[in-house]
Parts: sequence; C-alpha cells; structure tokens
Amino acid sequence: MTDDFRVEPLHPYPSGILPLRGTVKGSFAYLTFKERLPIIITKVVDSLSRTLHRTTGEQHAPEAVKEAKGCIEQLSKLTYEIQRDRKLLPLNDGDQDVALWNKLIQDLPAESNTWFSAPWLFAECYLYRKLREIFNNTTAWKDLDIFAKDQKEPVLLGSWKSASTLADHLTNMQSQSLDENARRVTLWEFLQFSLWGNQTDLSLLTNVKHADIHEIQRTSTSHLHKAEQHIIVNDGVKVLDYLQHVRNGRVDIVLDNAGFELFADLCLADWLIHDGIADTVVFHVKAFPWFVSDTTPQDFEFTLKTLVTLAEADSNAALVDRVGRWRAWLQEKKWVVIGDPFWTLPYSFWQLPTVGSSIYREICQANLTIFKGDLNYRKLVYDAEWPTTTSFREALGPLAQRSTPPILALRTCKSDVAVGLSSGQEKELDQKDPAWMVNGKWGMIQFEDTRA
Ligand code: F6P
Ligand code: MG
Repeated sequence: MTDDFRVEPLHPYPSGILPLRGTVKGSFAYLTFKERLPIIITKVVDSLSRTLHRTTGEQHAPEAVKEAKGCIEQLSKLTYEIQRDRKLLPLNDGDQDVALWNKLIQDLPAESNTWFSAPWLFAECYLYRKLREIFNNTTAWKDLDIFAKDQKEPVLLGSWKSASTLADHLTNMQSQSLDENARRVTLWEFLQFSLWGNQTDLSLLTNVKHADIHEIQRTSTSHLHKAEQHIIVNDGVKVLDYLQHVRNGRVDIVLDNAGFELFADLCLADWLIHDGIADTVVFHVKAFPWFVSDTTPQDFEFTLKTLVTLAEADSNAALVDRVGRWRAWLQEKKWVVIGDPFWTLPYSFWQLPTVGSSIYREICQANLTIFKGDLNYRKLVYDAEWPTTTSFREALGPLAQRSTPPILALRTCKSDVAVGLSSGQEKELDQKDPAWMVNGKWGMIQFEDTRA
C-alpha cells in the first residue's frame, strides 16, 4: 500500500441525491444481491471443487484439501448471509487495507449496514474483498485467482476469432499511409472497439457460451456503423477534436475486463502510439481478482502469452510480431502497467484526489484518462440516483477539478445509473428497450475536459 494512503470517511452524497441500494425492489442492485451474486459465488464453489479434482497428476496435500473445504463452507455461509440481508462483517486477514475497510463498515449507519441496505457500490466491492479474505486466510490457496481458470481464460480462448480479426484490421490500417481525416476515422473506430469490448463482462454474462462470444464482439467496421445508433451519449467528436492537438503525450487507461476487452484496449493503445498521439500509455489494473473478469497483472501477462500461442498456431506472424513489440514497449516503459490498491477499495472516484492521492498524481501526468466499463463509470458518478439529465461534470463531483486531466468514459450500460442524457431521451429509450440501462446493449462515450 502506498505511503500516503488515507483512511477517510465515505464522501457524503449531495443533498437530495441517494445512493443506489439493493433495498429498491426491482432495481438492478436488488437483482444483483438476490440473484447475480449468489450465482457468482456458486461458480466460485464449483471452480474450487474442480481445482481440487482436476486431474493434473499432482495430488493436493491433505491440509490443502481441508483448507479448500473450509473455503467452501465459508462461501456457502456468505451466500446465506447475502440472501438473508445480514450485516456486513468486519474483515480479518492481516492485509494492509483491513483497518480501512473495518472503519468504513463500522461507520455505516445502523439502518444501512446490511447487504441490501448499504450503498450498492460499497456492498458489492465488499463482496470481492470478502472473497479475497476467504482465500487469503489459507496457505494453499492464497494466490489462487478463482476466476482465472474457468472463466477468464476460456473466454480469452473463445475470443480468438474476434481478436485475430481486430488484429488484422489494425495491421491493415497501420500498413497504409493515411491522411489526417482517415487517421481520425481510424482512431474513432478503435475507440468504439474498446467501448463494445466492454460487453464481454463475465459478471453480467453468467451463462455465456463460447459460441455467443464472437456474436457480441464487434470487430468489423460495418458492425460498428450499426452499433453507433446504440451509443446514447456520444462525445466522439469532442474527444477526437481534443486528441487532434495532443502529440507525443501520455494516455492513461483505467482498465476493466480481461479477455477480448483488454485486447481491444491494447489495440487502441497501439494505435495511439502509432498515430503519434501518445508516446506513453499507462494501464491501470486491479491488484487482486475483482468483479469476476477485471484485469489483474497476471491476466495482462497471461493475455500476451496466450495471444502468441494462438497466433503461432494460426500462423498469424503479424500478431506474433505485434505482441513482441508490446513486450518491448513494456520493457522500455513506453507502456506501463500499474496495480494501485485504490482501485480495489469501495471509494468512488470522487475521493481519488484525496484517498487515492498517489495514483491521482500519476493520472495528473496524462493528457487524457480513459475509464473503461460499468463499474468505473459507477465510481466516476458516485453510483447515485441522478436524474439522467444531470450533466456529466456535475456527477463527477470533486474529481472535476482543474488538476484532473480530461476524462473519457467508455462504458456499456449495466447498472441503474446514467447521466448526460438530453431531455426526453430517457423516455424514448424506455420505449425502445425497457432494459436499456442494464442489459449491456447500449453504450456511452462521455468526455469531460475538466480543465476547461
Ligand atoms: O454488478 C455490478 C456491475 O457493475 C454491473 O453493473 C456490471 O454488470 C458489472 O458489475 C461490472 O461491469 P464492468 O465489467 O463493465 O465494470
Ligand atoms: Mg469488470
């Protein structure tokens, strides 16, 4: 944990603005506690049992088996406690963030200190920290990423067709000498690939089959044109206009999911370097397994390794070379991967400048910070019941200050929060698709120049 990591109470909500909570029946938060989290925990149990019985030729020591059984018992207890809306209990695993978490849990008012009644953002982040505690308190399973083998890895393999199509497109665009307008169009495409990559989020796709994966991954430009109608806030022109004046700068990407989404983000980062917009790209990853499919440093490495294996098997020499280049950039620090602990705390980004001051200072060196995905969006706008016509700037709260570099959110909608809509747009969307806020079929490209 960084030196200046502060324990600060949760930021109060603005008057009249309530946090999303699981107590609101019918909300996505309610559904999350009632159905989605129990399914996610069941999958963790299944995966742990499979790990135990996987025929690797190696026998697990009796102590490891005993610890795994202990984990399974605690996981069942956790499901029971969520479904019965019990109080959030203090953590106890000796990690450096325990005191901070326990102080925040203790500070929750009595009427909102249970799974459903606590702010949704807080309780859902707590779930993933609680899963970590369960494994942390063992010797044999401490470093196990329970989402890796059965979820993140197969999805990356299942995404190969989409990934190689996208890689070929990147190679093709980079082999041409493009005029300014064509370069702008290409950047726009890679921003959209990165946006739609966010549909492959494994905490939402609890029943995804490999055959479905390519279907939801948009890798052709004709697909993109159709999908553009599904971008409900589209600040594309503003972003492109802004980036037009950035040369040899730095772009930070606060990553979301591993797998195809990460690959699309890497392609975007590659294009930013190729186009001369950035000479440094910093990728922010999660320090431990988070929201099922979020990228950890291990996932980043696994992705590069697997891409080479798959590309070699498919005789895709261009991609093998490309990954080699990416590795060189990582060595030269042209590409940097950082896993700051702030990203796995329950704070919204309203408290990034204070609680997360060291990582905030990093971000302040960028010309642009791209926040990927739904959870990052929820954290940007403090996961509250904002009227949808609230401006993005207002919903960014204290993060919208002059020292913060321009912010770009690329997110497919998977929770009950959206801001920046025009008047009447919510009604129109409700008529077109009553589940527009949560089904991941609608996207937002939302930009704020906080320094303006
Ligand atoms: O469960 C809460 C949630 O934020 C959903 O809204 C979303 O399905 C998922 O977790 C995370 O999505 P993402 O990977 O896009 O952050
Ligand atoms: Mg995620």
